[in-house]
Amino acid sequence: MKLQLLLSAGLALAGSLIKVPDTHYKGHDELVEYGVNAIAELYNSTHLDKCGKCLSALQLGKTIALQNDKVIPEILIKLCEKYHWEEFCTVEYQGFNFGVASKGAHIANVLTLIDPTGIDGEYLCYYQVRKSCPLPPTPKYNLTGWWPEKPKNLSLPKSDGETFNVVHLSDFHVDLRYQVGGEANCTGGYHMCCVDALHNGPAYKANYTDIVLPAQKYGSYDCDIPQILLEDSLANVAKIGQNLSFEFGIFTGDMVSHDIDSWFSLAKIIESEEDVYYNMKKYLGDIPIYSTFGNHDSFPYAQQAQNRSGFLGEFIWNAQLSADLWKDYGWIDEETQAEAIHTYGSYAVNTKRGLRVISLDSNLWYQPNYYNYWNMTDPDTSGLMKWLVDELVDAEKKGIRVWIMAHVPTGGGTGNAMPHQTEVIRQIVDRFAPETIVALFFGHTHEDQFNVYYAGNGTDNSLENALTVGWISQSVTPLHNYNPSWRYYEVDTKTFEIVNSINYYAQLNKTFEYDIDKPELSNSTTFPHITYPPRKPDDKLDWIFEYSARDVYDPDHKWPKSAPLNATFWHNAIQYIVNNKTGREDYLRYEYRESPFVPDGSSPEYIKNMYCYFSSGTVPAVYECQKRQNITKEIWI
Ligand SMILES: *[C@@H]1O[C@H](CO)[C@@H](O)[C@H](O)[C@H]1NC(C)=O
Ligand SMILES: *[C@@H]1O[C@H](CO)[C@@H](O)[C@H](O)[C@H]1NC(C)=O
Ligand SMILES: *[C@@H]1O[C@H](CO)[C@@H](O)[C@H](O)[C@H]1NC(C)=O
Ligand SMILES: *[C@@H]1O[C@H](CO)[C@@H](O)[C@H](O)[C@H]1NC(C)=O
Repeated sequence: MKLQLLLSAGLALAGSLIKVPDTHYKGHDELVEYGVNAIAELYNSTHLDKCGKCLSALQLGKTIALQNDKVIPEILIKLCEKYHWEEFCTVEYQGFNFGVASKGAHIANVLTLIDPTGIDGEYLCYYQVRKSCPLPPTPKYNLTGWWPEKPKNLSLPKSDGETFNVVHLSDFHVDLRYQVGGEANCTGGYHMCCVDALHNGPAYKANYTDIVLPAQKYGSYDCDIPQILLEDSLANVAKIGQNLSFEFGIFTGDMVSHDIDSWFSLAKIIESEEDVYYNMKKYLGDIPIYSTFGNHDSFPYAQQAQNRSGFLGEFIWNAQLSADLWKDYGWIDEETQAEAIHTYGSYAVNTKRGLRVISLDSNLWYQPNYYNYWNMTDPDTSGLMKWLVDELVDAEKKGIRVWIMAHVPTGGGTGNAMPHQTEVIRQIVDRFAPETIVALFFGHTHEDQFNVYYAGNGTDNSLENALTVGWISQSVTPLHNYNPSWRYYEVDTKTFEIVNSINYYAQLNKTFEYDIDKPELSNSTTFPHITYPPRKPDDKLDWIFEYSARDVYDPDHKWPKSAPLNATFWHNAIQYIVNNKTGREDYLRYEYRESPFVPDGSSPEYIKNMYCYFSSGTVPAVYECQKRQNITKEIWI
C-alpha cells in the first residue's frame, strides 16, 4: 500500500525525481521487488505518454543503481520474463557470465552515469526502448578550438601514375561451433543457424531429425562461416596476392560469430579473435594487417566503456590481447602497441611509403553500446575524436595523407551509428578532407557499398561539394544471403588515392550437394549421426574475379584514366546507379555478389532510399535526406 502511494506520487511528478527511500527498501530483495513493481506501475500508468514512461523508468533505474547496482540485472531479468522481452532472460541480463560482467551489469553501470531525463535518456529511449521518445535534435558542437584554421596553401599531391596494391578484408564471423549437416534454416530467435541443437521449428527439439536445409561444408547463406571458409578465403587472398605483392592489408572487423551474449563467453570471443589473427598471419605472411574491432569483437556484445566513465578496466583485455598479437605478428611496432592499449585498440601507423593509416574502434559510436548514451552533450566522452584530430593536425603539418578505417560506417545504409558522434566526424571530415583525409574504410553491413561525404553540413549533394568517400567492404561471411567475397585496391604511390577496386568472390551454391529449392531431400537424415551430406569429390570453392569498380561504374570510360576513384567519381556513380537500370542492376548484383538472393530494388521508394544512403556520410544526413526525398517507407539495406 505504502509502495502504491509512493509510486503514484512519483508518477504524478513525471519529469522530476522519483525518490527511493534509503532506509525502508535497503534490503537487496526488497529493492528488486520495489524496482519490478515500480516499473510495472509505470507501464500501466495513464498519466504518462510512452516517452514519459521510458524517461521515468530510466530515472528510477538510476536511483536504484546508485543505491545498489547489483540489483539491476535481477530487476531486468524479472521484467524481461514478465514482458517477454527476450527468449533467454537470465543469460541476457545476468550480472556475471563466466566471471566477467554481463549485459545487465553494464546497464547498471550506465544507469549510474547518465542524465536520465536529458538527451542521454531521450536517445536511449529512441534507440534502445523502441523509439519511445522522439529522436532529439543532434546537438550542435563547436569544435573549432580543436584544430588550427585550415591553411590556405594546402594542395593535393601530384600523381606520377604508379600504383601499389592493398587488400581489404572484412567480416569473417568465424563460427567455432559450425556443424556440417546441422540446420541451415533454423527458426526461433536470435541464435546462429548451422550449430548443434538449432532446428527448424521449436528451438530445442528432443530429437535431431528432419533437418530442413543441411549446413554445407563451406558455409550456408544464413550462417556464419566454418573454419574451412576462413582458411579458404585467406588462401585465395594469398594466391591472388602472389602476382600483386600486397603491401599491407586492412581488416575492418568482426571476427566473432553472431551468436550474441546468451551462448557466448569471453573465452569464445578470445578464441575466435586469436583464430582469425592467427590465420591471417599464417596465410598472408609478412604483409602487415591493420585491424580494428567489430561490434561482435567485444564482450558483452558491442560494449566498450570510455576511460573517463571509470569502467574501462572491464574492457582493457581486448586492446591488450589484440595489440600484443598485432605486435607479435609484426603488423605494428612496440610504440604503436603501447598506443593501441591506451586508445581502445585504436592506433595510427605510417606505412613505409608514408601513408598514415588510422584505425578507430567504432564501438565508441555504435548504437547498441550503452556507454555511448552517457553525457551526450559532450562531443567526445571517450577522447577518441580529439585523439584522431591530433593525428590529423600532425599529418597536415607534415604533408602526410591519411586513410581512416573503422568497422561501423558513419553514414550510408546502416543507420547504426550514434548521430551525435557522426556529427563530430562530419566536422572532422569537413575540416581535413580532401587534402589530408584521402578516404575512409568500413565493413559491418556485409554488403558491397559506399557513401560520399559532402562538404558543409552534408545536405548540399552537388558535384562541387563531393569531398571524400566511405569504402564499405563486402563480407567474407555469407550471412545474410551473400556470396563470400573480398577486394583489393590499386593505390597511387604518390597521392594514396584509390585508383581501382578489384573484387573476388565464390559462388557458394556451387558447392551445395543439395539444391536449396529441394529441402525434401534431407528428410531421411538423422542428426547428429552425420553420414550426411555426402560430398562430391570436386566439391571446392571456386574463387573468381567479380568486377572492377572503374569498369562497372564508368561503363563508357569517360572518367580519365589518370584520375582516381575519388568523391567526384563516386558522385557520378550515384547518378548512374540511381538513374540507369543497368547501373542499378549491376550495383545490386555486386552488393550481394551474384548470390541467388539479389533484391529487385526497382521500386521508386527503394531507389530514393538508396540515394540517401549513397549520399550521406552521417546518420543525421540520412534522416535529412529521407525528409527531402519524401520517403514514406524506410528501407534499410
Ligand atoms: C526454411 O524454413 C521455413 C519454415 O520455417 C520454410 O518456409 C522455408 O521454405 C525454408 N527455406 C528453405 C530454403 O529451406
Ligand atoms: C545545412 O545548410 C543549409 C545551407 O547551407 C541550410 O539551409 C540547412 O538548414 C542546414 N541544415 C542543417 C541540418 O544544419
Ligand atoms: C577527383 O579527381 C578529379 C580528376 O583528377 C578532380 O578533378 C576532382 O577535383 C577530384 N575530386 C576530389 C573531391 O578530390
Ligand atoms: C547459384 O546461384 C546463382 C544465382 O542465383 C545461379 O545463377 C546459379 O545457377 C546457382 N548455381 C547452382 C549450382 O545452383
